[in-house]
Amino acid sequence: MGRRVLVCGGAGYVGAHLCESLAADGHEVIVFDVLDGGAGAALRSVTMVKGDLRDARALESVFADRPFDAVMHMAGKIVVPESVSEPALYYDHNVVGTLNLLRAAARHGAPPVVFSSSAAVYGDPQYTPIDEAHPCAPVNPYGTTKMIAERMLADFSVAYGLRSVSLRYFNAAGASASGLIGESHEPETHLIPNVLHAARDGTPVDVFGNDYPTPDGSCVRDFVHVSDVCRAHVAALAYLQGGGDTVALNVGSGQGHSVQEVISAAEGICGRTIARRDRPRRAGDPPVLVASAAKAQQVLGWWAGESDLPTIVKSAWRWALHCSTKYS
Ligand code: UFG
Repeated sequence: MGRRVLVCGGAGYVGAHLCESLAADGHEVIVFDVLDGGAGAALRSVTMVKGDLRDARALESVFADRPFDAVMHMAGKIVVPESVSEPALYYDHNVVGTLNLLRAAARHGAPPVVFSSSAAVYGDPQYTPIDEAHPCAPVNPYGTTKMIAERMLADFSVAYGLRSVSLRYFNAAGASASGLIGESHEPETHLIPNVLHAARDGTPVDVFGNDYPTPDGSCVRDFVHVSDVCRAHVAALAYLQGGGDTVALNVGSGQGHSVQEVISAAEGICGRTIARRDRPRRAGDPPVLVASAAKAQQVLGWWAGESDLPTIVKSAWRWALHCSTKYS
């Protein structure tokens, strides 16, 4: 049955993919977003409300206008090194913004919330794959803001009955099969788009750190296809609509790939050599982040079916060759 869903941050990279899939499933989608990027064609079938989560009055009027069956909260700042140099910005957007949203939601019927959290809540892993019982000890302000937001959600669940699923994304990557949306931030800091832009433009790609305690010295990450991330949201929505309790779940493939492996895979797919430029370690980067996704499978019946590295890189390459949309 079609639901009315508020998607905060719905014009961003993952948000645009999610809106495309929610609208295709027959849901009424209202996007609340600062709209300083531009998700273009993919967001034609949704209602757009321009606004900032830090503006409590704007949020109040969105909730006062119509009741929501659910809220997807994916708005926020996401660049790890920027969070190290500008923590105030991150606490403002990700903590104050989330508090405003949860307050408004709690006042207006406490619809269930699916929150875009992050593997960054774990910090440097004590073991891998990382399961949800792993201690949360973030090593950068970005991860700290996500951890605080999760704690708020847990407290709001107890006090106001506002149930939620926090989805701890590992490295979301890839592009939509529709060809209309993909990853292209401005400025771009993420590995796969940077590698593919280097392949496309014949420029070198920076490799941040070659002395990590990993097999080839570069960082290892768990890449999860954006379409799998969207399916996790849809499954979390169904779980909450069915009365499920507040929970935090990893969203990852369970496979680790190093920065060097990603570049080599891209060389194979693009059919060209990509020059690598060794750079110092980037502030706030844990050496290895690989998920155990067993709990998401148990609770949501979800697993990452499209997240093998070649599938992700192929879809991102198709997008890199003709992308026009930029997300801030
Ligand atoms: N990297 C490079 N060169 C680049 C870009 C990145 O070597 O041009 C390296 C980074 O140093 C890191 C790895 O590639 O070691 C992945 O970096 P990304 O910026 O692509 O992704 P992050 O792991 O920093 O962060 C992403 C999301 C966060 C999320 C995190 C969880 O941006 O929101 O994954 O794993 F929290």
